[in-house]
Amino acid sequence: MSNLLKFPDGFLWGTATSAHQVEGDNLNDWTEWEKENAERLAREARIYWQPWQQKKFLEMFSPENYISGRATDHYNRYEEDFDLAKVMNNNAHRFSIEWSRIEPEEGKFDEKEIEHYRQVIWALKKRGIEPFVTLWHYTNPIWFQKKGGWLNKNSPKYFERYANKISRSLQNVKFWITLNEPDDIYAFYAYYTGRYPPQEKSFRKTWRALNNLVSAHKKAYRKIHENCPSSMVGFANNIIYFESKGIIARIIKIFANKYWNFWFLRKTFSYNDFIGCSFYRHNTLSSFKVNQNENIETTDIGWEIYPKGIYYVLKELKKYQKPIYITENGLADAQDKYREKFIIGHLNWIHKAITEGVDVRGYFYWSLLDNFEWDKGFWPRFGLVEIDYQTMERKVRPSAQEYAKICKNNGLIT
Ligand code: BGC
Repeated sequence: MSNLLKFPDGFLWGTATSAHQVEGDNLNDWTEWEKENAERLAREARIYWQPWQQKKFLEMFSPENYISGRATDHYNRYEEDFDLAKVMNNNAHRFSIEWSRIEPEEGKFDEKEIEHYRQVIWALKKRGIEPFVTLWHYTNPIWFQKKGGWLNKNSPKYFERYANKISRSLQNVKFWITLNEPDDIYAFYAYYTGRYPPQEKSFRKTWRALNNLVSAHKKAYRKIHENCPSSMVGFANNIIYFESKGIIARIIKIFANKYWNFWFLRKTFSYNDFIGCSFYRHNTLSSFKVNQNENIETTDIGWEIYPKGIYYVLKELKKYQKPIYITENGLADAQDKYREKFIIGHLNWIHKAITEGVDVRGYFYWSLLDNFEWDKGFWPRFGLVEIDYQTMERKVRPSAQEYAKICKNNGLIT
């Protein structure tokens, strides 16, 4: 006999994308960086990836892989893409607005580009899909980067001006995400490890950027509420499930949670109407060693598949007593071998957390489309929809059909 694990009424089912990863033809600090670094990244693929990955994904050795270029041409094909989301019975969609399109020169706003995003929102609404609008997903206008980016003491004010303009122009949007993973992904990779532009490696600079991002979030939160009083505003928080083995690891876990997972949330706590939780990673700590995972199943980029981790993370978030949206959860899986099982596995654990009183209100699979995976380029395939980058043809993967059933039933049939 089959059983339906029902999700709460009004649960939001969707997918997520970000402007730079799907739109194509952007001009921002990342596009500049790509040009300068594509050859190096192609060369370094030999050091960075395992032999099985190198054998399977030959694109990683080609510099073009690291140039976002036309990306998926979503800027021109968003209607077609939202039709696919509709066929998938999605009732929500998360996407980002590209700051460099809106404000290509300091203080000068491009009304045509604002109109573009108005049309994007309208295209979602007319399909019965609730927009979740992200204002910033890692990319900066070139003028902003030239002024020192997030190290500039005025950076929060620049962001506030942009947030003000956009929220005034798009008052029919209810859900806003100010910043995507500002701390443990962006600030860490851009200012500490030097993996993302502007490739700084300095604790002092990381700290400065972090504090500016905190202030930017708070300012944007206030502006959005001024312009759209009934909106819900938050940021997307990348949360790792730290599993601890042994006493030392348990102590490390306390610090890891405090400073890695929840620092930004605690710093901006009363400036969040909900918690955006993006979940990808499990990290087993044992003594002073990290990443001691069993890795029974891994994705194409080598991340362990560990659905139960989302349950533990949600249980940890319960104490904050705010609504939670899973702003991202997904995997790179070109052959669509694990995707269906991955989604069902995570949703099972999310459902269990809900039955135990965690207020989860929505789930966004990352991603609707295959897309440009930052410093890794195009070869990792996260999409429910496959992209042929030569023809831009879209092909719905089998796992998308399973996700469509879940969305339609507002639950999992077990
Ligand atoms: C980011 C996405 C990225 C995904 C997979 C998330 O942390 O927000 O932009 O594509 O991870 O790496």
